[in-house]
Amino acid sequence: MELAGPFIKWAGGKRRLVHMLSRFCPEDMGRYFEPFLGSGALFFHLVQTRPRFEAVLSDSNAELINVYLQVRDRTAELADALQGHQQRYYARREKYYYTIRETEPSDALERAARILFLNKTCYNGLFRVNRSGRFNVPHGTYKRPNICNRDALYFAAEILQRPGVKMMHANYAAATQRCRAHDVVYFDPPYLPVTKTASFVDYTRESFGWSDHVALAAEFERLHRLDCTVVLSNSETRRVRELYSDHAIKAARVGHLINCDASGRTGQHELVITNSKMKRRAKIEARSINF
Ligand SMILES: C[S@@+](CC[C@H](N)C(=O)[O-])C[C@H]1O[C@@H](n2cnc3c(N)ncnc32)[C@H](O)[C@@H]1O
Repeated sequence: MELAGPFIKWAGGKRRLVHMLSRFCPEDMGRYFEPFLGSGALFFHLVQTRPRFEAVLSDSNAELINVYLQVRDRTAELADALQGHQQRYYARREKYYYTIRETEPSDALERAARILFLNKTCYNGLFRVNRSGRFNVPHGTYKRPNICNRDALYFAAEILQRPGVKMMHANYAAATQRCRAHDVVYFDPPYLPVTKTASFVDYTRESFGWSDHVALAAEFERLHRLDCTVVLSNSETRRVRELYSDHAIKAARVGHLINCDASGRTGQHELVITNSKMKRRAKIEARSINF
């Protein structure tokens, strides 16, 4: 049976890697933490393949977390708002896109509808903001994007409404302060660029630099000592290998859809680092993760 994927597209989304990543998550895991949530590909996979578990989902992108909260709490209203966007967009296309891109709704529901609308109609489903926090992705090239996918919204809402699923707008470290022994943490941070210009990392105004990667590696270590299972994805670079040299490092071959550099990382390797005791193949190949 094909499992349902995320309801939102996200740069660096792990949809095509979920089978491999889930093998590092023990069957008898405690709570599941995904503190760089994005589209939550691994969460949505696990929730459909594991009988019962609790989850703490978080991201530092306030607009993204607002989308999740509105999907969970105001599903029907959100679907109607998206239906309206869809009709108006099909009539005016690019003009309508840029009109909505310039708006700044104050109502939480309208903000979520705007972000989901932009996500479905912008270039490659990117979320990128300028220094003043304004969404600045150009119009995309999809012919008839499915802006209002009611089935996907209601499916996600049912999952997010489960009592064991908690959502937070938080920096990753604030979320993982709550971890205790046997919890599972999946870290999927903005990647360390392979070259100076190679990759897209600005999901929020604050970008994730080298010092953040060093601090994240220290948090990985703390959680390891706490007896959590930790899984982390990052780019295939010498510096990442050095940061995690005490742990198992696996190479996964993937292609990325979101890539600002034409030479791209398509077909290159990226790394999965884990302290998981589950024995797995050393080298795992995955197909392209394009949507
Ligand atoms: C590579 S994406 C995660 C993709 C996700 N695994 C998926 O399947 O869609 C990285 C995410 O980290 C978030 N982020 C960036 N810096 C962060 C921070 N300091 N704390 C928490 N989240 C952060 C971004 O907003 C973005 O959603």
